[in-house]
Amino acid sequence: EQIKKGSYDHFMQKEIHEQPHSLKTTMRGRLKDGGVVLGGLKEYLKTIRRCRRVVFIGCGTSYNAALAARPFVEELTGIPVTMEVASDLLDRQGPIYREDTAVFVSQSGETADTLLALDYALENGALCVGITNTVGSTLSRKTHCGVHINAGCEIGVASTKAYTSQIVAMAMMALAIGSDQISTQARRDSIISGLNNLSSNVSEVLKLDAGMKELASSLIDSESLLVFGRGYNYATALEGALKVKEVALMHSEGMLAGEMKHGPLALVDENLPIIVIATRDACFSKQQSVIQQLLSRRGRLIVMCSRGDAAAVCPSGGSCRVIEVPQVADCLQPVINIIPLQLLAYHLTVLRGFDVDQPRNLAKSVTTQ
Ligand code: AGP
Repeated sequence: EQIKKGSYDHFMQKEIHEQPHSLKTTMRGRLKDGGVVLGGLKEYLKTIRRCRRVVFIGCGTSYNAALAARPFVEELTGIPVTMEVASDLLDRQGPIYREDTAVFVSQSGETADTLLALDYALENGALCVGITNTVGSTLSRKTHCGVHINAGCEIGVASTKAYTSQIVAMAMMALAIGSDQISTQARRDSIISGLNNLSSNVSEVLKLDAGMKELASSLIDSESLLVFGRGYNYATALEGALKVKEVALMHSEGMLAGEMKHGPLALVDENLPIIVIATRDACFSKQQSVIQQLLSRRGRLIVMCSRGDAAAVCPSGGSCRVIEVPQVADCLQPVINIIPLQLLAYHLTVLRGFDVDQPRNLAKSVTTQ
């Protein structure tokens, strides 16, 4: 086992640091001649373009990856996207139509709830697409078509490199579906150039490791941690909080910043740590005003912003800790922004003395309902 971990202490740590490489293997051979080629989808692109809606279905981290993909899939394809947690779709027996494209996201391809939702969508006549890391898995065999994310074997129970590769696989899927639209050509070109540079930006953000360890040591005794995001980074807030609760065994909630004043604001005091994700995108000024509202209530803030933006997010007089990350194309920013939170969850777990790779009560793949 130690041989497989190489110079790392834990699989989760190794898998976090592998991301510059795993993202390259996800994209390898697929970005060609200024466009995207996905062999597993090629025959189905026309049908997907004509569908009435895309329904993303998954659990846990895989659901969060689909949520991160939702805004750019809508933007690049013009197709409405709805989200379904697999178990909830089954509980409600929610409507799925023949005109739908149901996209199933699962690292293992063996999660029981996701597979049952797949059976349900197949029965209802939807076109079923699989996004998985496991070649030969039940998901990849039962879906009509799909994309393998090729992130390499993920051993830590907490999913890290699969999450970022899932987002990139779905970005490539959106680019391929939308490739017939002339009006979005320039936007597609800039996202493809962002994909080409993504791996080196991930290497950059991994340099925050020591800083995240130091931040973790300041949070070690906290009982709870909130993470506020919106837009492209609402999913980052949910996924960051999921990582903290599942491995560091600390209560943590990811929240939509736009909902803050509708309830969560009551929790704010000088003790509760709150991470606000405020990297540059169309929502930036709204996040600046969220920070102001939290500071005026003496909130204990940790702000994630684009490099060089420390003064813009936390003007003098405000006391907040700042995490500066490289800025990339707005729709790819969730790939960068999750990494400091993965590192934070990892270090919190080690410092709190819990089992990183095998958190209590959890299994890597949940094969029972
Ligand atoms: C991720 O850190 C979790 N262990 C969990 O939420 C996981 O993502 C979920 O069980 C879905 O697994 P899958 O991607 O293999 O379907």
